[in-house]
Amino acid sequence: MAKNGNGDKPWGGRFSESTDAFVEEFTASIQFDQRMYKHDIEGSKAHSAMLAKVGLLTDAEKQKIHQGLDEIKAEIEQGTLEWSISLEDVHMNIEARLTDKIGITGKKLHTGRSRNDQVATDIRLWLREQIDFISSEIRRLQVALVDVAEREFDTILPGFTHLQVAQPITFGHHMMAWYEMLVRDYERMQDCRKRVNIMPLGAAALAGTTYPIDRTYSAELLGFDRPANNSLDAVSDRDFAIEFVSAASLVMTHLSRFSEELVLWASAQFNFIDLPDRFCTGSSIMPQKKNPDVPELVRGKTARVNGNLIALLTLMKSQPLAYNKDNQEDKEPLFDTVDTLMGSLRAFADMMPHVQVNKDAMRKATMQGFSTATDLADYLVRKDMPFRDAHEVVGKAVGYGIEIGKDLSEMSLQELQKFSDIISDDIFEVLTLEGSVAARDHLGGTAPAQVCKQVEEARKTF
Ligand code: ARG
Repeated sequence: MAKNGNGDKPWGGRFSESTDAFVEEFTASIQFDQRMYKHDIEGSKAHSAMLAKVGLLTDAEKQKIHQGLDEIKAEIEQGTLEWSISLEDVHMNIEARLTDKIGITGKKLHTGRSRNDQVATDIRLWLREQIDFISSEIRRLQVALVDVAEREFDTILPGFTHLQVAQPITFGHHMMAWYEMLVRDYERMQDCRKRVNIMPLGAAALAGTTYPIDRTYSAELLGFDRPANNSLDAVSDRDFAIEFVSAASLVMTHLSRFSEELVLWASAQFNFIDLPDRFCTGSSIMPQKKNPDVPELVRGKTARVNGNLIALLTLMKSQPLAYNKDNQEDKEPLFDTVDTLMGSLRAFADMMPHVQVNKDAMRKATMQGFSTATDLADYLVRKDMPFRDAHEVVGKAVGYGIEIGKDLSEMSLQELQKFSDIISDDIFEVLTLEGSVAARDHLGGTAPAQVCKQVEEARKTF
């Protein structure tokens, strides 16, 4: 057979000149897709086992392939396998190495398969594993938050709306709000996993294959719920990756909001918390500085993940069926999303148990913004005043408090009675911070008793 210009390429048969050196580099993905080597090998083992089951390989050939692939895995892990740009991607690198090692049998592995269904299968296997890692990091952070909530179940701080002091709340309640966001994040990951766990293998290039393959068998071997129903769809859509990055984007958005609060709370102006030194850094010029770098960076990294989401959506939007090389661009945003999310979750889960709470500063801040004004209004309503009138009465009392520099709880009974004569000395219990939070004692309320219940419920799910 006449030697062609691209004799070293598995697809070189119809070519009469070699690939331009720059194009070779430009079109290769081995620089980043080598990360999926384990899943590529796992997929190839299942595929060859299926080929043997339906009689397209002998058992001996299958054994040889499996042994060769196991050895290649070890070579990769020991760092002795040299990845080659001219072999484009992880799939062809591994296949070429297999043929090097076991000869002609290695060339039979690709029977009834294309890189198009191979890569789609690899990404799904890889992502499924990452979703499991991410889910357990989300859980670890949830456990940390529940522990803090339990410890600080009755610690009082101001709750804010518009970043203005609104009503007293408990720190435990605040932690459990973050916890709830993560419950939904966890569920979204699990839900996304269901759609990731469908097997493209067997779709071949786009139309399926003429061999009598058994896709249910390969799906079973790989732990997929089922084979994909349509070969064109199976090789071309990356909606599962988009869905994952979108779920990741929401986790990051939540972490970014937590970060924003930690940064505010750690400032000298708030002074609500102390972050452990080992999660902060100093300034090269201002010796007094202790900067909350970890939350700031998590807040910043949210931008990357949001960017990755837009990148993947845009990548997909103009592709006709079926596979297009555009899809090779799916990996870096996906990998970067996983790395960024894992790092951010890890930092939070490690840091949260060691956040020191400054109860006095929180209490002082709660005393500052007339945070029990609603409690006074509710008290008047309980004594039969219509709520709108009560609102008006309390508004006047607050105006007076601002003028003389006193909180409602610091006024005398006589002072309070100037605004309404139905106020009696049972008011003082209502105006204390403890009384205020304890009174909100229903499902979802901020009362310490409710925090304890929520903590208990949460623990049952771990
Ligand atoms: N490296 C490719 C990718 O990531 C693998 C599939 C290539 N298929 C092809 N027909 N060129 O998408």
